[in-house]
Amino acid sequence: MKAVIISGSPRKGGNTETLAKRCAQKLGEAGLEAEVVQLRGKTIKGCTACGTCRKTKDRTCSIKDDDFHGVFEKMQAADIIVVGSPVYFGSATPETMALLQRAGYVSRGNGNLFSRKIGGPIVVARRAGQNFTYAQIMYWFTINDMIVPGSSYWNIAFGGGPGDVESDKEGLKTVDRFAENLAWLAGKLHA
Ligand SMILES: Cc1cc2nc3c(=O)[nH]c(=O)nc-3n(C[C@H](O)[C@H](O)[C@H](O)COP(=O)(O)O)c2cc1C
Repeated sequence: MKAVIISGSPRKGGNTETLAKRCAQKLGEAGLEAEVVQLRGKTIKGCTACGTCRKTKDRTCSIKDDDFHGVFEKMQAADIIVVGSPVYFGSATPETMALLQRAGYVSRGNGNLFSRKIGGPIVVARRAGQNFTYAQIMYWFTINDMIVPGSSYWNIAFGGGPGDVESDKEGLKTVDRFAENLAWLAGKLHA
C-alpha cells in the first residue's frame, strides 16, 4: 500500500516538513510505502472554474503549465493521502488550497477518484489558528468521500521557527498515533 504525505509549506526544513517526514517514517515502519511530496518550489495555480474536467472526463485539469498533475497523479495512485499545512492568517497556505481545490474538482468531475481513500490533515502554527485550518482541510476529505481516522488529539502542533515543533511533545505524539491509526485502518480495509 502506498501513502503520500503532502507538505504544503514553502519553507525548507520547516515544521510541516518535520511532521510530514515523521508521519512518513511511522507509516514506513508499519510496512507502507510512504512518500513526502513538497509543494515548496512547485507552482500550483488556482482553479479557474472552466469546467473542462467535467466535460472531458479524462482525469486531468485544463491547466497544464504548472506542477499540479505530477502531484495529482501521486494522490490518485496512493491508498493514503495526508495533507500537512502551516497556518497562514488562520488558513491553510494558498498552494495547499490550490492543490486541494483543483484535485477535488477533477476528482468529483470524474466519478470521485479519491473515494474511500484514507487520510487526514496535519496542521502547525506558532500560536493560533490550528483548529480553523484543521477544519478547512477536513472539509476537503469528507466532501471527497474519504475516510479519516482519529488520534490522541486533533492533528495539530505548535511551532514558530523551523524545528520548533520538535519541542511540542504532544503534537509529535498525536502525529505518531495518527500514523499508527492510518496503517491500522489501511490493514483492515485491504485485508
Ligand atoms: C504569512 C504567514 C502567516 C502566518 N499566520 C499565522 C497564524 O495565523 N497563526 C499562527 O499561529 N502562526 C502563523 N504563522 C506562523 C507559522 O504558522 C509557523 O511559523 C509555522 O511553524 C510555519 O510552518 P513551516 O515551518 O512548516 O513553514 C504565519 C506565518 C506566515 C509566514
